[in-house]
Amino acid sequence: MSDEPALQEAAAALRDSARPVIFTGAGMSAESGIPTFRGGKDSLWSRWKPEELATPMAFQRDRTLVWGWYVYRMAQLATVQPHAGHWALAELQARWTALTVVTQNVDDLHERAGSSRVLHLHGELMKLRCSVCNRPFTGFDVPALETMEPGQRLEPPRCGHCDGFIRPGVVWFGESLPTKTWARAEAAIRGCDLLLVVGTSGQVEPAASLVGLARRGGARVILVDPDESAHAGQADLHLRGGAGAVLAGLRDAL
Ligand code: OAD
Repeated sequence: MSDEPALQEAAAALRDSARPVIFTGAGMSAESGIPTFRGGKDSLWSRWKPEELATPMAFQRDRTLVWGWYVYRMAQLATVQPHAGHWALAELQARWTALTVVTQNVDDLHERAGSSRVLHLHGELMKLRCSVCNRPFTGFDVPALETMEPGQRLEPPRCGHCDGFIRPGVVWFGESLPTKTWARAEAAIRGCDLLLVVGTSGQVEPAASLVGLARRGGARVILVDPDESAHAGQADLHLRGGAGAVLAGLRDAL
């Protein structure tokens, strides 16, 4: 857990902030039981190859492998809950009513905890759509996690309009971020006076560039991460600890 003086200093900075923005990555969801992408033997990209699972080419080449992998993640998401850190961030809205959460996460744990302005830079796992005509696809029955194996192949459903294959609502490598969401995230971060960065390694652009954008605009940057992150050098304060305990502690110290 982060040291107490640093937590108190962060709480004071947050108290003084008129327009804070939250920026989260996979580490935010780790304590809910969703694996991160990097770091540790259980991280997704240490067990799987992103080029075989997270690109439009991969889906064209081997759609049953890709769809099965994402359905496994959907099934996993259905079994987990927000943790104390998600609830603490949502509670900050009582003080900053327009608080924006910019997230790289494709889960809905911020929303489930009650955060109402959440910008998903990398899409949303459960917002299924047609890979050809892009129409939303609803009514997919996510199988129970215990009936699935990691790496299990599944045939994706077909679009009722054009018969195209259905894909998960995430942004794959090589694809553009959703334009309006990105514009809103940039605007929020340009206008913020404090950026609270939680659980992101800072390895993936353009999302990672948002921290530099905040700094250039004069915002203070507070990082919550138990380990190193490419953002450590950009942070005014680094609270070294897990998101659950640190964010709950920060809320309590306000
Ligand atoms: P990463 O998996 O790259 O980084 C996770 C970060 O969370 C690391 O810095 C960890 O030290 C930190 N961490 C681990 N446990 C934590 C905890 N309990 N509390 C707080 N922090 C913790 O995740 P991202 O930076 O989000 O993209 O990855 C960025 C993008 O890479 C993802 O959105 C995904 C991936 O490829 C797409 O799918 C497009």
